[in-house]
This record gives sequence, structure tokens and C-alpha cells, in this order.
Amino acid sequence: MPGTLLLVEDDKAIATVIIAALEDEGFDIIHCVSIEERDAQLSARGFDVMLTDVMLEDGDGLASLGSVRDRAPDMPVIVLSAQNTLDTAVRASDSEAFEYFPKPFDLDELVRAVVQAAGNRSEEEPAQAQESMDGDGMPLVGRSPAMQGVYRMITRVLRNDLTVLVTGESGTGKELVAEAIHQLGSRRTGPFVAVNTAAIPHDLVESELFGHEKGAFTGAVAQAIGKFEQANGGTLFLDEIGDMPAEAQTRLLRALQSGQIRRVGGRQEIAVDVRIIAATNRDLEPMIAAGKFREDLFYRLNVVPIELPPLRDRREDIEVLSHHFLGQAAEDGLPRRQLTHDAVAALEARGWRGNVRELRNVIYRLALMSREDAIDAASLTDILGQEAPFHAEGEGERGGIGAALDIWLAREEPVSGTVYASALAAFEKPLIEHALGQTGGNQLRAAKHLGINRNTLRKRIGELGIEPDRFARPV
Ligand SMILES: Nc1ncnc2c1ncn2[C@@H]1O[C@H](COP(=O)(O)OP(=O)(O)OP(=O)(O)O)[C@@H](O)[C@H]1O
Ligand SMILES: [Mg+2]
Repeated sequence: MPGTLLLVEDDKAIATVIIAALEDEGFDIIHCVSIEERDAQLSARGFDVMLTDVMLEDGDGLASLGSVRDRAPDMPVIVLSAQNTLDTAVRASDSEAFEYFPKPFDLDELVRAVVQAAGNRSEEEPAQAQESMDGDGMPLVGRSPAMQGVYRMITRVLRNDLTVLVTGESGTGKELVAEAIHQLGSRRTGPFVAVNTAAIPHDLVESELFGHEKGAFTGAVAQAIGKFEQANGGTLFLDEIGDMPAEAQTRLLRALQSGQIRRVGGRQEIAVDVRIIAATNRDLEPMIAAGKFREDLFYRLNVVPIELPPLRDRREDIEVLSHHFLGQAAEDGLPRRQLTHDAVAALEARGWRGNVRELRNVIYRLALMSREDAIDAASLTDILGQEAPFHAEGEGERGGIGAALDIWLAREEPVSGTVYASALAAFEKPLIEHALGQTGGNQLRAAKHLGINRNTLRKRIGELGIEPDRFARPV
């Protein structure tokens, strides 16, 4: 079934890997490295699928997709990009790209997507002209693999009305994700209405959501329109959904199933057209088990789950977030400051129990309190105080590199062979396990992370009896 593929990629190493994998699948591949060559190929013949990089020597592969569409209106396009921003993800989805893969990507996943795209070709809807997205002002910052997963999920819900459930610890950016989906999606011209269930007294939640008729209950002195009706044509963000009282849960479920609501004390069913995004920092599953959250409502909300990782699991985002917040602080009238490298390193080492919100507050505090324009590690500690160095939760129990080091240092018996070999032997397994843990069991990424060859890694995994599946995260 595989067919012809046009690969536009100027990175030789990546191209070689992709060509080898897709030739194995039976694809006929033409490889080119520039937009000019690409357009010449497309003018000369048809392809079943195109796989393209974004940054090419003669321009931006995404920006120039228009000329691809002129030549091959319904060829699926898969975009590969090393610019791992929400902006690129959104531009890829706006340009009717079939799929978007941030680099580094999982080769097996890419192969599957290409095979599927080639097979789906005839069923693909014709491409529509899409208004292009402004690159500036993307709300979410951070390029960690974890955030790229979040961006991909966001782009998948922009052109449909599927219900989204955003989960994550407090301060991880759940509300920002909801706003981004609304602002970037097809409902952006409609209202965005947010309801924080936790902030409303329990007996008023229903009337807040669905409105009420005059006299419906004591204190209902006039008719009131609820948030559902206010959000008509737009998005309703149900924040802290885990705090919703039982009766309101039942009513919400009914509204979601029927697309109609009834005001409290009212008889008339009112049709509403709203996209629901719900969020919670609670773990709903134990609440379901305890009978505190309706299971049927959970499944109705959890159509597209988006999980925001805690900041401590994506420390590589701390630097770019810090600069982002320094810029925001300056716009808010605080002095414009910079962070030295050692100050950034000190921030990266902190615990961040309060996640991105805490980081934002810390940066504002630093901007306000610092005496110098450039904040270094010493003045950072002066202002913020010392914090116990960070230890990954449960690292001791799990084993981990720290534990291996402790055990090795505390060893009683003399080292057999060289110290070097003995230490390496003690570290190799936890080191590889750590890397697999960080990449969710992805061996290609783990190998990159460790700076070793993928085949070497695979061999050592076998020899050391490591089970890589143990680290796979559910998608
Ligand atoms: N990826 C991000 N890029 C830029 N700013 C972010 C990001 N994530 C969070 N923020 C900022 O951090 C703060 C907290 O985010 P938000 O209110 O969305 O968190 P939340 O997950 O809804 O938290 P809670 O569960 O406490 O309501 C906000 O000021 C938000 O703008
Ligand atoms: Mg919130």
C-alpha cells in the first residue's frame, strides 16, 4: 500500500534515518533539501505524501506551503520541526498539515503517521484556505518535550468542538491552555466564559451555570441568565470541576448529553451551542471510586485529556519562562532586569511545588527587589532565601542515580578491578533507567539524552536486563 513520498529535509542525518525507515516500509522516496527543489518536484509529478522540515536554506517550509497546495491540493503533508513552539504547532495545523512532529521525534510514531497519511489520502477532505496565524503573542511558553505533547494536543482540538479535560497540579497553566484553545480555535470570535466551581457556594452552583427564573428560590428576585447561555457560540471553561456538588454534576451531564439546558425553576429547554473545557488539579479517579464524582460525567468530559506536567519535570523550560516573565514584569512597570547564567541555574535547581505560578511570582519579586539590573545567583539567594536542594520525589525508593551513588560510596567490600570500572558498573543501569524514565521509555530520545548510539543503548538494555516498557507513559 505505501506509495511515493517527497522528503524535504536539509539535515543529512535525519534524512538518512527517515529514508532508511520508510524504504523498509516500501515507500519510493524522492529527497530534496530546498523549497525550490521541492516545488520543481511537485510540478513534475504527484506524490502520495510529503514530509517536510520547517527551516530550509531558502526559506520557511511552512510559510511556503501555499505553493505546495497550488501544485498538490490534497496531498497530505507531515511537518517536522526543531522549533518546538506552540506557534509552529499552530501554524502547522492551520496550514492543513496532516500531522506535526516536533524534533526530536519518535521514529516509529513518524513511520506510522506517514503510512496512515499515504493510506488516507483518498479520504482526506479537500484543503481549505485557512487564515494564517500571527506568530507573536502565543500565550504558552516552553519547548520541553512534555510541552510539545501539550501543543500537539491543543492543535488537535482547534477545529472541532470535542470536550477537553485539562489536568495538572495547581499553577501548571491549565487556565492558560483553555484560553489558548479558545483564542486559537474556530470559536475565537465567540465568548470565553470561565466558571470556577470551587469559588461558588455549593447551593448556588446550579443557578450560576444554568441561570434561574424569578422566584425559583429564596433570593431569586429576578430572572438570571447562567454561564451556559452566556457562553453560547463560544467556550465555557469549567474550572475546578472536581469541586462540583452532586446535583450540579447530574444537571451538567444532562446538559452535555442533550445540548440543552433548563434554568433553575424554569420549564423550557433552551438549546445552547457551547464548547466545554473542564479543568481540575484533583485526581478524579479516586473521587469516582469514593462516589464523589460521577463516572459517566467523567467520561463525558474526558474526551480529549490534556495533562500538564509539573514544572519540576520540565526544568528545561525554566530559563525561557523566566525571561518571559521578566519581560512581562517590565511591561507591568517593574524595572527591566536580566538573569545571569548562574542565577538561571539556581532557579532550575529549586523545587517549584507551586509550578509556573510560583516561578512567575518569584520573577516578579526578583525584578522588584533586586538592586542591580543583572541578577546573579548571590543576590537571588539574598532575595529568595535558601531552599533545600531539590530531590526527585521517591528517588530513594526507586533507586535512581543518587541512590546508586550513596550505595557505592558507602560500600564495605573493596573495589574489584579498577575503581573506574566498578563505579561505571554500579551506575550504568540506574543511569539508563533514569534516561528512560525521563523520556517515557523512548529509546531514541534516551540515547540522544545520554549521548550514545541507539544500538548501543538497545544492546546494554538487553545485557543489563532492563525492561524499557516499564517506563512507557500512557499517551
Ligand atoms: N507555559 C506557560 N507559559 C507562560 N505562562 C504560563 C505557562 N503556564 C502557566 N503560566 C502562568 O502561570 C500562572 C498560573 O497559570 P494558570 O492559572 O493557568 O494555572 P492553573 O493550572 O489553572 O492553576 P490552578 O490549578 O491553581 O488554577 C498564570 O499567570 C499563567 O499565565
Ligand atoms: Mg486555574
